[in-house]
Amino acid sequence: MIEPHGSKNLRPLYVSDAAQRAALGKEAEGLPSMVISSGAAASAVMLASGYFTPLDGYMNLAESLSVARQMKLPGGWCWPVPVVNIVPGARLPAGVKPGSRLALRDPNMPGQPVIAIQEVRAVEALSVQDQGAVIAQVFRTSDEAHPGVAALKVAGDTLLSGPIQVLNYSYFPGDFPDTFRTAVQLREEMGRRGWNKVVAFQTRNPMHLAHEELCRIAQQEVGADGILIHMLLGKLKKGDIPAPVRDAAIRKMVELYFPPNTVLVAGYGFDMLYAGPREAVLHAIFRQNSGCTHFIVGRDHAGVGSYYGPFDAQKIFDEIPKGSLKIEIFRGDHTAWSKKLNRVVMFRDAPDHKPEDFINLSGTKVREMLVAGQPLPEEFARPEVAEILMKYYQEEAAKGQ
Ligand code: ADX
Repeated sequence: MIEPHGSKNLRPLYVSDAAQRAALGKEAEGLPSMVISSGAAASAVMLASGYFTPLDGYMNLAESLSVARQMKLPGGWCWPVPVVNIVPGARLPAGVKPGSRLALRDPNMPGQPVIAIQEVRAVEALSVQDQGAVIAQVFRTSDEAHPGVAALKVAGDTLLSGPIQVLNYSYFPGDFPDTFRTAVQLREEMGRRGWNKVVAFQTRNPMHLAHEELCRIAQQEVGADGILIHMLLGKLKKGDIPAPVRDAAIRKMVELYFPPNTVLVAGYGFDMLYAGPREAVLHAIFRQNSGCTHFIVGRDHAGVGSYYGPFDAQKIFDEIPKGSLKIEIFRGDHTAWSKKLNRVVMFRDAPDHKPEDFINLSGTKVREMLVAGQPLPEEFARPEVAEILMKYYQEEAAKGQ
């Protein structure tokens, strides 16, 4: 199976030994503690899951700046976004300094239980200039209307770096028992299925016909044994479809339209960054860690609004040194239903087509139709998928009245 990123073996930071976990839980009761941001807690879940191999905890300022500026860790490994625990300095418990052990509390669980213990290596001020530089590099904008920029701006002024030991996976296993999987579990499952070549599809949205076909085209072109449909289960911006609805829609599509045992549907516990190109590189890294050999990057991958060009998230893979990642990128062109061919195609496979030869519906139009109870065209969405989405939108609309 493909090697993890920067390491011969996966390095999940979840403490899997129950006795050791119990001992750490006991230790945490006597430690200073603080509630961390949702983003930092989600990073703990990703570190716990092995997805963020080879990291062993939260980055310090030098690492964060190196990653932001050069997309690499000071040790040389490619890494596209800082993985940080930023806190408001005013809330830091008294006496926390390099060498302290600190219990990190989960903002997303009732009672804010301890999610991890951090061995604090450094407590560093994050200046407005450094914060601004990181934001500009990672998000390619400083506009506070960008949801990722906004989240980072309010996180705080102090960087707590150092290794962590993770005690649980937050709300993900409880809320998504059939879908939340770690990189360790995915590698095991692919091994059981005898899959060697696996193509991964990232999603935060329900899948329409174009997405379904993109997966099929990629599988055929790379000759993959299977497809991993790997969805984000963490926090999204307002207006995005919640994970349980999306999960149900995707499972229905897989059940009805893919041959049995060719698709693995799973999810990971991370909040969406909306960092477009940089997030695409992060996505590729953690799919390599999950055991996938290929990763689909299509149009406006991990984008929001019009901050990124439609194929910037593909171009970035030409900007990182060759060989930085072992996983290969399948570059998907814009994909849609062709009225001339009566099937879904990638634009590059239909060079004679004009834009009006394709069926394209904007997200806004789709939402309006579903709220109004109008079925979506079958050239755009599977009827069974559209039905699940229509139910959700109509319930939401009823709540709003
Ligand atoms: S993302 O934020 O998780 O990337 P989304 O779930 O919408 O958003 O997209 C999942 C993947 O499908 C991404 O790789 C994206 O580039 C690709 N994609 C979505 N729609 C299209 C399309 N019409 N044509 C080509 N690729 C697409």
